[in-house]
Parts: sequence; C-alpha cells; structure tokens
Amino acid sequence: MIRKDLLLLFTALTIGFTASAQSPLRRHINFDSNWKFSLGHAGNAERDFNYGLETAFSKSGSANNTCIEPRFNDNTWQDIQLPHDWAVGLPFQYSKKGDLEGKGYKPVGGGFPENSIGWYRKSFDVARADSGNRFVIQLDGVYRDSKVWVNGYYVGSNFSGYTAASYDITDVLQFDKPNVLVVRADATQNEGWFYEGAGIYRHVWLNVFNNLHIASDGGVFVHTSDKGNDATVTIETTVKNDNIAAANATVYTVITNREGKTLAQSKPQPLSLATYESKTLTQALTLTQPQRWSLENPYLYRAVAIVQSNGKTIDSVKVRFGVRTIVMDKDKGLFLNGKNIKVQGVCCHQDHAGVGVALPDYVQYYRIALLKEMGTNAYRTSHNPPTPELLDACDSLGMIVMDEARLLNSGSEYETQLRSLILRDRNHPSIFIWSIGNEEFQTQYTNIGKRIAEHQLIIQKELDPSRTSTYAANMPNVYYGVNQVIPVRGFNYNLGGIDGYHKDHPEQPVIGTEVASTVTTRGVYVKDTINGYVPDYDSTYPAWASTAEIWWKLAAVRPWFMGGFAWTGFDYRGEPTPYSWPNINSHFGIMDVCGFPKNVYYYYQSWWTDKDVLNIAPHWNWSGKEGQPILVWINTNAENVELFLNGKSLGKKDMPVNGHLRWSVNYEPGTLEAVAYKKGKKITSKVETTDVPKRIVLTPSKTTLQPDGEDAVVVNVSVVDSKGRTVPVAGDMIHFSLDGHADIIGVGNGDPSCHEPDKCLPGAWQRSLFNGHAQLIIKAGNKPGAVVLKATGNGLESATLTF
Ligand code: GAL
Repeated sequence: MIRKDLLLLFTALTIGFTASAQSPLRRHINFDSNWKFSLGHAGNAERDFNYGLETAFSKSGSANNTCIEPRFNDNTWQDIQLPHDWAVGLPFQYSKKGDLEGKGYKPVGGGFPENSIGWYRKSFDVARADSGNRFVIQLDGVYRDSKVWVNGYYVGSNFSGYTAASYDITDVLQFDKPNVLVVRADATQNEGWFYEGAGIYRHVWLNVFNNLHIASDGGVFVHTSDKGNDATVTIETTVKNDNIAAANATVYTVITNREGKTLAQSKPQPLSLATYESKTLTQALTLTQPQRWSLENPYLYRAVAIVQSNGKTIDSVKVRFGVRTIVMDKDKGLFLNGKNIKVQGVCCHQDHAGVGVALPDYVQYYRIALLKEMGTNAYRTSHNPPTPELLDACDSLGMIVMDEARLLNSGSEYETQLRSLILRDRNHPSIFIWSIGNEEFQTQYTNIGKRIAEHQLIIQKELDPSRTSTYAANMPNVYYGVNQVIPVRGFNYNLGGIDGYHKDHPEQPVIGTEVASTVTTRGVYVKDTINGYVPDYDSTYPAWASTAEIWWKLAAVRPWFMGGFAWTGFDYRGEPTPYSWPNINSHFGIMDVCGFPKNVYYYYQSWWTDKDVLNIAPHWNWSGKEGQPILVWINTNAENVELFLNGKSLGKKDMPVNGHLRWSVNYEPGTLEAVAYKKGKKITSKVETTDVPKRIVLTPSKTTLQPDGEDAVVVNVSVVDSKGRTVPVAGDMIHFSLDGHADIIGVGNGDPSCHEPDKCLPGAWQRSLFNGHAQLIIKAGNKPGAVVLKATGNGLESATLTF
C-alpha cells in the first residue's frame, strides 16, 4: 500500500522536526504534556467553575473563586496530553438540536451547553536563572474562542479556532515557583459546517528569547527568485527591542544545505532600535545552481537569521525554505520550475479516524504519504488555516498546497486572521497559492464581495508579494463580485460553465478549487438505504457535483484549465451526504476516514501516476448470489484488459484513456482474474472467493517509536482465511491490549454508520472490522523500552507486534 521509502523519509523528518528548530539561545519548549482538563458549562455559571458569577476581569490578576485562580484544586480533573479533542470522545447522539448532522452527531455546540466549554490547566516552572528573557506562550490552535490566563492574569483571547495566538507572559511570571496557565475554550458556536472538534487540538509552546529579538510572528520571511541557473534568496528579518532602553544590534543571515553546511552568508548590518521599536532588514544572497524544490525532490535549504549585540549572538531563528518558481499561465496552466504540471489535487478537512482533529504530527505525514502514493500532487486546506505540521509534511514530501483563509470578510477580526495565516505560512515552499474564501453565497456575487476581496488581496500582496490568490466560487460563467477582481478564477463544481468563462475572460487563469464529489462507501457494492451505504463505484454524486471521471476527462484535455481539487481526499466527520443518521461521516473521500482506499482511488491512481495499476472491484465473496449478475469495474492504465472467471475468458476490451472498464459477470465462486498489457508488459490482478476468517493480521506503518511522548504509529488490522487471503467482508470485533510506555489513542474502521467509540476505556480497546479493515493509532510515551501490541478476536488466531 504505502511505499517504504516514503515512510522512512517521513519517520526521519518527524523526529527531526518535533525537536526545537531554534538555537539554544532561543528555546521553543513543547508544552503538550501534563495538562488537567474538565468540561465547564455554557449555560450554568456554577458548573462553569463560577466563571460568569465571579468577576474575572474587574481587577488585574484576580479571578477569585474560579478555576482561573492559581491555587484552584484541579486534582479531580482529567489528566490529558495535547493535542486533545474532547468532541471525539463524546458518544454519538441523534438530535435535531443544533447542526449535529454537520458535526457528525457529536453533541457539542449551542444545543449542548454541558459539552461545549472546556477548561485546561497546566502548571510549569521557570528558573530564576532565566529571568531577564522574554517568555511567550504560543497556542497553535484551539477550537475555539479561547481565553488565556497566567497566574490569574488575563493575557488574551483568540476568536478563531484555526489561527495561532501568542501571548507575552513575561511580566506575570514567577521564577522558581509554579506558574499556572489556564485556557478556556468555548465551542458553543461553529466556524464551519463540518466536524471541527473541540479543545486545544494543536501544540502549545513556551518560547524563551532575548529582549532584543527577532519578531515572533513571521519575523523571518524568505523568498527566492531565479537569476539564470542561480537563485537570489531574499531574507527579510524583523527585529524588535523589548528592552526598556534603546539598543543596538547587528543582523546577518546564513544559508545552509540540509546537512548544515554553510552555502552563503550576508554581511552584518547594524540596527538601532528605540524601546519597543521594530525594524525590518532585507538581505539578499545568491545560491549557485541550487537544487529546486519539486514534487519529486522537495529539497529544503535553511536560512538562519542571527542577531548580535556587543559582539555576542543573542538570538537566531532558522527557517526551512525551498527554491522554486511558480507560474500560472492563462493559456497553458501551471508551471513549477518551468515544468508544466496539472493540479491533481484533493480538498481535505483536518480529522482522522480515532483522534478527531487532534492528530499526532506523524499522522499528518502518514496522510500526505498516502495521498502521494495515489498520485495526488496538490492539497487544499479546505476551509481553514491548517495545522503547521501539515504544511511541514507537504514541504518535506513534495505536495503543493492551496492555503485557505476561513472566510471572505475584511472586518478587523478576519483581517487579523488573514494576516496571521500569511505571516505564519509564507515561508513554506509547498504553498503555491492562497485562497481567500469558499462559496460565500450571500456575498460572492455582490459589490460587497468585490470590495472585501479587493481588501484581502491587498493584504495578501503586502505580506506576500511572491504569490497570488484564488477564491472558491460555486458559480458557472458568472462575472460579478469576487470574480471581477480575483487573479485566478476558482471553480467549485459548475464545470458546465468553464469553457464559456474561459472564452469570455481569456486573461484570467482558471483552476478547479472543488471538483468531483463521488459518494461511495468502501467495500460496499449494493445500495443500502437502511445503513446509509452508497455503492463503491464512481457513479453516485450530488446534484451540484460530478463523478471523478467526468471532471478529470474535462480537465485533462484543456491546457488552460490548471487542474483541480477533488472533494475530498479522505472521508471526514459530519456532512453525511446523501444520507443522514445513522451516517456520522461523509462519503466523499477517495479514501475512508482511516485512509483505506475505495474503488475510485484506483481511477485516480491509474491516470495520476505511471505505476502499473490494475484493480478489480468488487471482491469475489458473493455467497447467495450464485448465477446473479455482478457489476465488475476495472481501473487500470494498461491499454487493454482480458477478464477470466475460473480460467474462462469473459472477453478482452480496450481501455479508454482516462476511463474505466465494466463487465457484468454472473457470480460463481472462485477466481476472477484480469490480464492486461501496458506497453507490451503483462500485468495481472485477481480477486478470489475466500473462506471464513482464521487469523488476525496487524500491519504497522513502521516498527519503531521514538520515546518522546509525541511520535505515533498507525496500525492497520485485517483478517485472513486458512490460505492467508484477506477476507474482504469480515466484520469481526477485535480487542487490543498494549504493554510498555505507549498508549492507544484511537480506533476506527471507516464505516460511515458505525457508532462504536473512537476512544475506549483503558484496558478495553476494541473495534469491529468494516469490510475487512480497522485501524488503531498508538502514541509513544516518554520512556524507552519495548511496546507490545496484542490483538485478539473470538475464534481467531491472535496477532502480536513489538515496537
Ligand atoms: C461544497 C462545500 C464543501 C462541502 C461540499 C459538500 O459546496 O464547499 O465544504 O460542503 O460542498 O458537497
């Protein structure tokens, strides 16, 4: 399934990246461990630890009788580690209150005040020896409307559930004594219309640095331009003086290769800063014949900005960057380093099986590697600023990204969000375009929409002149509002209007911001309205959408159509189209919520890669359907295919380019085999009728875990019959136990109607297989030693894995 070299690569990268990327002068301390958590209450102040009854804001540092108080006793609260999503642990519940369907029937939001406030507390020490530095708490993502206190002092809030926030806590710290950090997250409101999780679901950091320092948010901006075979690397470094006196500094930049060897170094430039003043210095360096960042070789250089004072280095920040060019041509589409590429993209939400939106970093890499394996080269962060580690994964593995703002709005809150997104993300070579919004059907056609877009585009150019923007418009050939000013016209569906639009507006490059939307249930081939299952063929889609084959055939032959992003790479919680309860997740994924491929995966893999693809769907276990016709669907990039049932030819067919082949085959147990020829080479593939399940098989994504409290491994579970053949229809319940310093943090099986818990009680982890597959995710502890996973099932031979 997943290529070993990619797995090794991203294992190495995650290890390197969780550690601080900064010099010892500046510390980037992970704050994911030792948190206490409790639900509060959105409608009952007493059950919200008196927040709302007592005065939390009337006097500085005083929030008496609430859990904000440092001395509050949180002994009875739950011990948790970040990232944490409390919504995923709630039981599924059918209710008409609130938008529970959108949330995947997890009871959070306005209708469920008892589940919608989360309180977090963490105690931490700072040594007196460190006093004199600056201390900043950085929260990468809290869903949502978070408020933060340190030692009872309110330090700030963040409305967004997706942008990061940093708070300078220097003035309120105590040295050589415990400090208490308190976060209140309020998930009463939604920001999207899909599952968004709840709580501190990304990392938290304590950043420690000199008073004279590189600015926290986007303080080093690196961009490159070609100079013949060489490249000019421009580094803009913003230095801030937080001393109470004026200060002088010198600033210089070093560029290194991956191994840390210096390739270029600027001259030191002097700088004088008044108290609290910031200044930006621009330095340009030449890289001789650099390796280009590409999809195949995503080479990353490092730029290190260094601040010195009185001859001593007092701060430095290292950023990874790539040298690459992006051109969007109105007639010929997208060029990466001068090479024409089609956007073979997918839209994705943030959640994964078992863990909701709280993904260990490793799982970000795992998902991107799965997409690459399918032939995906582009990722749209629909519809929000992503987790930083997702972008690290795209930089490292070679995947271009459309990075999207939460919504089209230029009010101060949303201007801040857009600024924060661009300042945080603009060094990532993977990002090839920004998206300023998605399907704002109230606004997109109007002059208001046009004015907001103009405002957002000015901010984008101010903060990142090296890129451009699009907007995901669900309109056909319409040129009102946003479309009049957007540099790249985005089409969400409505591809019937695309030729007309291109003809009428030939100067505007065109991209498919959201396309396809086949709805399928993995491994199900018969419509089932009771369970809410849709056959796993590329044939069912909502009224506004299309099959994979319709959009790709259209895009593939139009050079000016840059390609597009299929909705979606993976199934996600919420939006259970076309059915509702008992469905709890969407069916749009090309893979399910665990990342198990559906049939349509092989359509994309056939035409998006040059691997030898030959896939037969469905499986061949149709007991009770003997003699009845079964629709057989073949995806391949071979030139022709001959199908055999138990050795008897069912005919040979030529493969249409960008298409698929079908047979209707009267079922008889045995072997259905396809023999195909691709450029003279024979390729074969078969499905066989299996016996009953006999033995459990565990397939881990890797066999080692770093004892760093952050690393993770994905273990896929299946069962085989007495001949070792995977049983594709198995539904056995599998129980898991784990010994050693690690924890199971979630289980899933990809069944869109399964209401089994994703989080089980300690010692009681279990999950049923869905059409032969289930998955568990293990997170490393902090101590070395063997970790042993055991899987058992009724009447099945057990399986054991040692990490
Ligand atoms: C689109 C929308 C997506 C998702 C999808 C479902 O219109 O942009 O977020 O809701 O429809 O089909």
